Order: sequence, then C-alpha cells, then structure tokens
Amino acid sequence: MINKPALKPINRCFSSGPCQKHPGWSFEGLQEALLGRSHRSEVARDRLLRVVEESRELLVIPQDYHIGITPGSDTGAFEMALWSLVGAKPLVVLAWDVFGKDWVHDILNHMHLKDVDCRLGVGGHLPSFDGIDPSHDVVFTWNGSSSGIMMDRHDWIADDRTGLTLCDATSAAFAMDMPWDKLDVTTYSWQKCLGSEAAHGMIVLSPRAMERLKTYTPAWPIPKLFRLADHGVVREAVFVGETINTPSMMCVEDVLDAFRWVHSIGGLPALVKRSRTNLAVLEKWMEGRESWIRFSAAVPSQRSHTSMSLRLCAPEVLALSRAAQWDLVSRVTKRLDVEHVAYDIKGHSGDEPNIRIWGGATVESSDIERLMPWIEWAYTMEMV
Ligand SMILES: Cc1ncc(COP(=O)(O)O)c(C=O)c1O
Repeated sequence: MINKPALKPINRCFSSGPCQKHPGWSFEGLQEALLGRSHRSEVARDRLLRVVEESRELLVIPQDYHIGITPGSDTGAFEMALWSLVGAKPLVVLAWDVFGKDWVHDILNHMHLKDVDCRLGVGGHLPSFDGIDPSHDVVFTWNGSSSGIMMDRHDWIADDRTGLTLCDATSAAFAMDMPWDKLDVTTYSWQKCLGSEAAHGMIVLSPRAMERLKTYTPAWPIPKLFRLADHGVVREAVFVGETINTPSMMCVEDVLDAFRWVHSIGGLPALVKRSRTNLAVLEKWMEGRESWIRFSAAVPSQRSHTSMSLRLCAPEVLALSRAAQWDLVSRVTKRLDVEHVAYDIKGHSGDEPNIRIWGGATVESSDIERLMPWIEWAYTMEMV
C-alpha cells in the first residue's frame, strides 16, 4: 500500500485546454482592457495590431508572412484555412489524434475532396511521411494533443515544394520551435500554450499561401466568418489587426498580458525550455514504473512535451475492454479531482484510454513533480 503523498501541486490545473494561466496571472493584469470601446476605435485597433506584431516578434515569424486574428479559436482559424485554400491540388492528410481526424472528416465528408491520400497514425506511432509529392498540399497537426504524440522531424517537407503545407499547431506554438520556412499555413489558439482565453485563434500565411488566396476560388461558398478572400480579393485588413467580426477586448488584453510574462522570462527559448523540462521531470519519474504506466507515444523522441499522455499498462489492465480501461482512468482521475490535487487530467474520450497532463510552459515543473506520486497513489487505491 502506498501512503497518501503529503504535498499537493500548488496549481492544480493540468487541463489540456483551456490551459493553466501563466505563473503570477491575476485580474490585475487586465486593468487596461478596453471594455465597452469599439474594436474599430483607434486605441482598440492599436491593441489588436500589437497582438499581431508581438506574435511575430515572439514566435520569430518572417516579415513576409501575413498574420491574422480569427474568430473561433484554433478551430476557427484552421477551418478558415481549409475551406479557403484546399481543393486546388491533390491532398495528403496526416492524422494521429482526434483533432487531426476531425480535419480528415471535414475533407472527406464535407468538402467531398476525392484526390486525397489519407494517412493515419496507429498504435502510438506517427503515420508514414514517405514519398509525399512536393506538388501536393499537405494537412497535418504538429502536436497530436489527444494522442500525446508530436512530430519530431520535418525533413519530409521539401524546400522547393509547390504544394502548400497546412499545419494545425495549436498545442505546439509557444512551446515548440516552428520551422516557418516549412510551413505555409499555421494556426493556433491563445488558450493552449499561452494559457490565455479561448474564443480567438491566429492564422499565419506564407507568401505562397497568400498567392493561393489571390489565385484560387474554391468551388464551395465560404461563410463571411471564414472569408479571407472574396473571389481573389484578399481582405488585407485582417492582416493588420482588424478582425472579421467583433473580438473580445478582454481576451485581447489577456493575451497581451501573457506576452508580457513571456518577455519577462526570456521569450520563446524560455517557453520551450520550461515545457521540455516538464517532460524531463515526468520521464524521470516514469523510470522503473514500466510495469504499470507508460507513455502513449511509442517512440521517445515523439513524446509530446505539451500534451503529455500516459497509459495504464499493467497486463491485468490491458486485458480489460476499452470501456473498462476508460472506467479505471475515470476513477483514478476522479480521485485526484476530489482530493483537489489535479483537475481535468482524464484523456480525450476520442482517443485510447489515457491520463493526460498538460506540460506547456505555464505549468511549473515542481507541480508535475508533486502530481506524479498522487497518480501512483490513486492507481494503487483503485487496484486493491
Ligand atoms: C490539435 C488541436 N487542434 C484543434 C483544437 C481545437 O482548438 P480550439 O478549441 O482552440 O479551437 C485542439 C484543442 O485541443 C487541438 O489540440
């Protein structure tokens, strides 16, 4: 029997979205929010433009890339990209988590695209990146948030490609280094690695993606909310801080507050380091416990350091049905919720039964250290 651990994490929010606020966050940081002001006023437009410019600076996005604020969080941003840009060329879709598979569903069952090479990752593995034709468009998620598997290489993306790469990077941007020269369309939301509010997303377009916007009109209608271009006429205002519809100036202030924190700790390198440290702490704790818990990712270099996903893997657990394994995960994670040790660490129900701990930069590694003995305790309590 394992004793109940003495120490609880200081911040118990380990959800994979909305994610934990940055250390030191408080409502004080939102005092300057332009509440009740028109988003078209000069001051509000200035704030929105600051979001665009600081995103470029912090993420080191090339000057010739266009950056826009979108409605609908990352989903809004990625739907906007998909519906505006694909269909012009044959398509390769790579998916290894629930969200990547959502894009597959859109492409096959709603856009009804026919020339699609759909590759799914199974059993804790990424799909094959072999032989992707550089003249085809490619859709993929950088970090599979629900599977806990991230891309560990991008050499399969040709420098001289003529197709576009469309990357859902919502649980990677602000925690992983993004190779912008390999990415034509990138989307993410404020609610993930920055721990900011949901509601808004970001879209980042390379010059070639902008060219596609100007020269390609999809066969389907595009609702106003997602319309980046109207028959080849690009809505340029979207890329200088204007928004398609009314933004939340409270959320805008919150993300600017997160940027202040990012600057204060040393920018993107510090974020990446903090997140990687979280995984390193977890990996150290996992050593010697392989008999009952393991990473969902089969390949160590593909273990996500943002959405850190673990499987209960004792033979008697793996012998259970999927539903019974989920039930065990539910009971373990519920125990930790009731004890006010960790909230929202039950994995995404669309994936394999797993415990998922957010390891983005807003999370302190000391809290991961404190959390893990509790997981062992809760598991042991369930197995007696
Ligand atoms: C990879 C991925 N794509 C898309 C989404 C949806 O993001 P949002 O809720 O910000 O729209 C998520 C959310 O967890 C995600 O992890």
